[in-house]
Amino acid sequence: MAKARRITSEKLRSRYWFDNPDHPGTTALCIERYLNYGITLEELTSGKPVIGICQSGSDLTPCNRHHIDLVKRVKDGIRAAGGVPFEFPMHPIHENVRRPTAALDRNLAYLGLVEVLHGYPLDGVVLTTGCDKTTPAALMAAATVNIPAIVLSGGPMLNGWRGAERVGSGTIIWELRKRLAAGDIDYAEFLSRASDSAPSIGHCNTMGTASTMNSMAEVLGMSLPGSAVIPAPYKERAMVAYDTGTRIVEMVWEDLRPLDILTRKAFENAIVACSALGGSSNAPVHVNAIARHAGVELDNDDWQHLGHEIPLLANVMPAGAFLCEEFYRAGGVPAILYELYGAGKLHGDALTVNGRSLGDNLQGRETQDTDVICRYADPLVAHAGFLNLKGNLFDSALMKTSVISRDFRERFLNDPNDPEAFEGKVVVFDGSEDYHARIDDPALNIDARTILVMRGAGPVGHPGGAEVVNMQPPEALIKQGIESLPCLGDGRQSGTSGSPSILNASPEAATGGGLALLESGDRLRVDLKRGEVQLLIETSELEARRERLAQQGGYRYPDHQTPWQEIQRSMVEPLDRGMTLAPATKYRDVARQHPPR
Ligand code: FES
Ligand code: MG
Repeated sequence: MAKARRITSEKLRSRYWFDNPDHPGTTALCIERYLNYGITLEELTSGKPVIGICQSGSDLTPCNRHHIDLVKRVKDGIRAAGGVPFEFPMHPIHENVRRPTAALDRNLAYLGLVEVLHGYPLDGVVLTTGCDKTTPAALMAAATVNIPAIVLSGGPMLNGWRGAERVGSGTIIWELRKRLAAGDIDYAEFLSRASDSAPSIGHCNTMGTASTMNSMAEVLGMSLPGSAVIPAPYKERAMVAYDTGTRIVEMVWEDLRPLDILTRKAFENAIVACSALGGSSNAPVHVNAIARHAGVELDNDDWQHLGHEIPLLANVMPAGAFLCEEFYRAGGVPAILYELYGAGKLHGDALTVNGRSLGDNLQGRETQDTDVICRYADPLVAHAGFLNLKGNLFDSALMKTSVISRDFRERFLNDPNDPEAFEGKVVVFDGSEDYHARIDDPALNIDARTILVMRGAGPVGHPGGAEVVNMQPPEALIKQGIESLPCLGDGRQSGTSGSPSILNASPEAATGGGLALLESGDRLRVDLKRGEVQLLIETSELEARRERLAQQGGYRYPDHQTPWQEIQRSMVEPLDRGMTLAPATKYRDVARQHPPR
């Protein structure tokens, strides 16, 4: 489905800076300074598209660091296709290290990238992505500015191994923490085993948030077909970097822009694919955010209505057994889409960056290994998408059903009278420090049917929203073999966690959400069939608690530590609306609506 549109070099937006007879002073200033490191006048003035390369790799961001080398092939491709590459840095976002949380930087990187794409002489951009939030930040900015843009992921690490056992990044940490708590291993072995999961360059090798969001970029049509999960060290990764470089130059001439691609159909495809991938519980936050910036209505009801019935097809950790190296060899994202398309679950006419439709791109891309990528008719788990739960404490909270274990089902969900519901007494924690300080306190009386609640962990309570809802049971219970309890919270959880938590409760406690009214000892009823979580309490008592909290000045949370924390807290929207910055979502297509002056 190639678009008929083509532009000529006079229409390139870089001409405003580099060839503008109405503003000779501006032109002279722009040109002379770019010449000072060896670019020639001919390159800048002969009507070649100027292509930005947004560099997300640095020594601070190891998951994306190999983009420093990979962009050499991107530049080769850009030059071969007749463009001029300009590499520039993205604000660093490293998931594992950034405190208080990397999610705080998604919107900051977004803002910075919008300003660069709008304010510099760029006709198109290659967005290098990898670690969790780098991908949504880049796509959000691409949607806002709307110059031709293409995503190049860095790809996952090779498989981690311990002997013959696969070791998945992130996922192993959650498992080892339980082994450490149970006394099976010591601190030194904990560190040694954890490092087995990171054997090479690349981002997490599990279907955590990084692999999920790069797969989402491909499903949305924003990266070349089959590129999302090529392992970082493979030769095909450098080859697709070259192809990405050549393609962005063609996209500029075709005037193929993000908002031509990021349509409602593309987002519906992303929701469906996320379920089949067993994708991260952070995906709804980020995909909803990209949609908001693209001007597409999308909410967590869409995730349930379109996604819940979709089966799990990717046998990749944390929902499955393999890692991204095998996932790539089995056919990767196109093989998942092939099955979904064959089952009539996708919009095949959605446009992609190669100028063809999603459906056209799938010809001959069936699974090469049904142990790793299952057929639609023979899935790993039926109905594997998110549930969007509601009730008297919040308007929306997500549950990732693909990771509900047999043990969990037997303990909580197998009441013959109501197999999809359970009740439990809650124990409430205010942020992760409170949890760590008290979880092993015997006075809390946590038993096998307790529901652990985490509040103060949303985008305002913990700037950016903490990944802390998947709480480990007390050591004493783990030693008895009880390795998980139901968890509920207004924060997020790591995409590499296999915990069936109820997450992202919106609105959060810090902005008037009902979790602020919970008290330890209250009873909750969770009904998955009805999609409800109810606090079992008289309405009058709930209102009395609300009144008391208001008199105390509302739910308290820690002070701001930096200027950005204060700015973001003043305007951030809830997790169910994508944690976007409220004033930013009204800006759209700014390169054309607000040309440089
Ligand atoms: Fe960067 Fe997982 S920590 S991708
Ligand atoms: Mg994370």
